Amino acid sequence: MLSLGEMMNRLCIFLFLGFSAVTATAQAGSDSLKATFESDFYVGAALSREFASKKGQARRELVKREFNSVTSENSQKWSSMNPKPGDLRLEAADEFVRFGSDQGMYVVGHVLFWHNQTPDWVYEDSNGQPLNRKELLTRMEQRVKHAANRYGKNIDAWDVVNEAYLENGTLRETKWRQIVGDDFVEQAFRIADKEMPSSVELIYNDYGMTEEGKRKAVVEMVRDLKRKGVRIDGVGMQGHWTLNHPSIELIEASIVAFANEGVDVHISELDIDVLPDRNKAFGANVKKTLESTPSNDPYKDGLPQEMQRKLADRYAAIFGLFYKHRDKVKRVTFWGVTDGHSWLNNWPIKGRTNHALLFDRHYERKPAYRAVIEVKKGAGA
Ligand code: G3I
Repeated sequence: MLSLGEMMNRLCIFLFLGFSAVTATAQAGSDSLKATFESDFYVGAALSREFASKKGQARRELVKREFNSVTSENSQKWSSMNPKPGDLRLEAADEFVRFGSDQGMYVVGHVLFWHNQTPDWVYEDSNGQPLNRKELLTRMEQRVKHAANRYGKNIDAWDVVNEAYLENGTLRETKWRQIVGDDFVEQAFRIADKEMPSSVELIYNDYGMTEEGKRKAVVEMVRDLKRKGVRIDGVGMQGHWTLNHPSIELIEASIVAFANEGVDVHISELDIDVLPDRNKAFGANVKKTLESTPSNDPYKDGLPQEMQRKLADRYAAIFGLFYKHRDKVKRVTFWGVTDGHSWLNNWPIKGRTNHALLFDRHYERKPAYRAVIEVKKGAGA
């Protein structure tokens, strides 16, 4: 017998998520992404607060059913955890880590050092004057120490540095580079290696990793770190791709190139943009935006069958490749859970209706979901 309180609680969850979400959660069939690829690689999702929070209990159930790895979409970025000097806001990050570790998932912290979502104060002293190299290195060390003390072994891997290179393989012009210098990535990994528990895997993460220039630069960077005895365990290929770009051959070339350097390959932020006007050169540069026009938002009322098929075929081809290279690929993480919560609804044009993931706006599995499961079944497993 349910108590009145429990009944009210369930009614709230039901109203909050809508009928279809709850039915989708209840129909936990024997198939799931994590069970299907259990012997091959982790299958993960980036969690926004709606999915990591206790308030999103039904959403959490979907995550628990399908995924065995989680990444923090925004809650562990510097601006989220520590927007002003001395102002620590850790509730969302704590909730994310607790959820993932309580479930025994492979938990990925995102991200220690990035040029975006890092507040200006990080690079300045209390008078607003730029820090020098030594001072900024100390500040970096403080951030890693804090993360290591707070989350320790409850985090399995950290994205140590995100997006330090441009597609042509040169270092991006950031405050990190300006103040610390060209060895900023090396210094970041040295600090992470020193401060994090040895079980925590250290990852370099970037988009556009199938571009030749960036691939070569990252290969060279991994070699250089290893030559110097600095630990790096994995390379994250974000995977913000479209229906046509990059080709399977380009993706394969990068997986093989990184694996050849003796690091795990993580597909760390997978989604497939189905909307027009995505210039491939944008990669996932959040600073680049386009004008909205009616013609570049064509699937407001849902994705037509023909496009569902194209998306399913694209996901099947990509997962076929990941499966082929399952000895090299440690994890495949989607950048979000459902289409309704994907960042691609707001980039590179704000407020569009994108359909980039495996679960639709009603939390239902899409044809692309089935196509991904079929990759494994088709392989005779
Ligand atoms: O939380 C505020 C909210 O209070 C405010 O009202 C609203 C107004 O715009 O903004 C909200 O913050 C937004 C935040 O996402 C949370 O939704 C930020 O504006 C928005 O810029 C931020 O975007 C995130 C983006 O990184 C920022 O750089 C996306 O959610 C997140 O998916 C995206 O993730 C990045 C990875 O970290 C690195 N790789 C590329 C990937 C996609 O850009």
